[in-house]
Amino acid sequence: MSAVAAAALMTGATAADAACDDGEIVIKFSHVTNTDRHPKGIAATLLMERVNEEMNGKACMEVFPNSTLYNDDQVLEAMLQGDVQMAAPSLSKFEQFTKQFRIFDLPFMFKDINAVDAFQASETGQAMKESMVRRGLLGLAFWHNGMKQMSANVPLESPADANGLKFRVQNSEVLKAQMAALGGSPQPMAFSEVYGALQTGVVDGQENTWSNIFGKKFFEVQDGITETNHGIIDYLVVTNVDWWEGLDADVRDQLGAILAEVTEMRNGESTKVNEEAKQAVIDAGGVVRSLTAEQRNEWVEVMKPVWDQFRDDVGQENIDAAQAINA
Ligand code: LMR
Repeated sequence: MSAVAAAALMTGATAADAACDDGEIVIKFSHVTNTDRHPKGIAATLLMERVNEEMNGKACMEVFPNSTLYNDDQVLEAMLQGDVQMAAPSLSKFEQFTKQFRIFDLPFMFKDINAVDAFQASETGQAMKESMVRRGLLGLAFWHNGMKQMSANVPLESPADANGLKFRVQNSEVLKAQMAALGGSPQPMAFSEVYGALQTGVVDGQENTWSNIFGKKFFEVQDGITETNHGIIDYLVVTNVDWWEGLDADVRDQLGAILAEVTEMRNGESTKVNEEAKQAVIDAGGVVRSLTAEQRNEWVEVMKPVWDQFRDDVGQENIDAAQAINA
């Protein structure tokens, strides 16, 4: 990394401004969220800082947050074209490439992020990182965000309150089915468009984690957020198979080792980051509604039948494994 790039980092300028030195392998990392108070934003920045310090002269990472380079609908195609080397889209965004990740979108499948972590650490979970290799994409690590909450422009207490509303969803068949089960109308849309769509009434509501609801200020344009904890957002750090295999072994090993350390360190903090984001929503005047156990059970009863539509895609044995972890 050049002195200019180092200075840019120290002054907090975006990494996208940082110039790489001649001869360094340039690693562009594109993502869609904000950088602070966000599990992915913090992890990507830390990864960049460590690569640029420890691999100086060999490799140089530039992180492009907030969809400034690509949104999640474009980034995987760009990666296959060789225009970007790393990204961490949510698992819901791999719909075109594999159906295996559908298990992560099923409502009420995992009781918390620790359960997701345990499932991913299993042999089945680890094998999922390689499920798209023949399509040119290799998963390097799972990064955690957190549990999803529901919000709308009307109070949501019982699932009946969602009936007839338009909900933004990520482009995932499971998430579309989940909103349809509520009697809602699912509207797939890029993350970067959600705030505007909520503000103008193109959609009435959305589901997301506290860090995304705070980071993109969705709470400002919603009646409130209901703490449903009904699903999860988790990420796959992904790269182009040919690019990864084309790296010299020592570079690949060092990059892989740094990524593994960053993953372990930041995944352990993801729940805390989301709790802080929830508090920040409240401090900023956002309305947060909790559910009694009875009320939450109503949501479970309406949404959980969605599993039946996707049992064949995800495999009963995987559902059983996830449920055993929850127990
Ligand atoms: C979304 O599209 O809502 C999320 O996947 C965004 C993100 O990367 O957390």
